[in-house]
Amino acid sequence: MRPVSLEQLYQKIKRACPKQELVFGDGKPGAEIMLIGEAPGKDEVAQKKPFVGRAGKNLAEFLEASGLKREDLYVTNVCKFRPTKISAKNTVSNRPPTKEEILAARPFLHEEIRLVSPRLLVTLGNTPLHAVWDFSVNIGGCHGAAEKIMLEKNGYWLFPLYHPASIIYNPALKETYMCDISNLTVWVNKNL
Ligand code: URA
Repeated sequence: MRPVSLEQLYQKIKRACPKQELVFGDGKPGAEIMLIGEAPGKDEVAQKKPFVGRAGKNLAEFLEASGLKREDLYVTNVCKFRPTKISAKNTVSNRPPTKEEILAARPFLHEEIRLVSPRLLVTLGNTPLHAVWDFSVNIGGCHGAAEKIMLEKNGYWLFPLYHPASIIYNPALKETYMCDISNLTVWVNKNL
């Protein structure tokens, strides 16, 4: 049965992933803008909220630059559990979700989008871009501009951005990223 509320959707995801510690979306149901990241990390699992800890700091910088307010948004991730790997030093660290994990999470994310019913999806990095659009597109080729997409017969605007963490690993992207955020602000002020 199709969930008719976010709560029902979360119960459905819990039944599908009984062994995982899950982090669901957070924010304003009915928000006009939905921000979609990749997957929770350690801090998110501890606090059961997306984009807290270091990622939350990166997100706060993004919000500051864009003029958006977290309380006006709905913030979620493609993957609701933390994908991990064991490093050579025998410590647990984050890894990006695999294609299979993204494909498995995709129907739940699409349900979440339908239930929140935003007008604009802001994706951060390739994982959410692949989950809402297509695996053949890459963030390098479409960042910083709005696209109209269809998800199960509903139309949404999509605004792909680099993931804020990628700017830390690749500082050369910072200027492009700031320019993309400024394009987003202009687009939001004009269209929402
Ligand atoms: N934390 C999240 O909740 N999502 C990300 O994509 C990265 C860190």
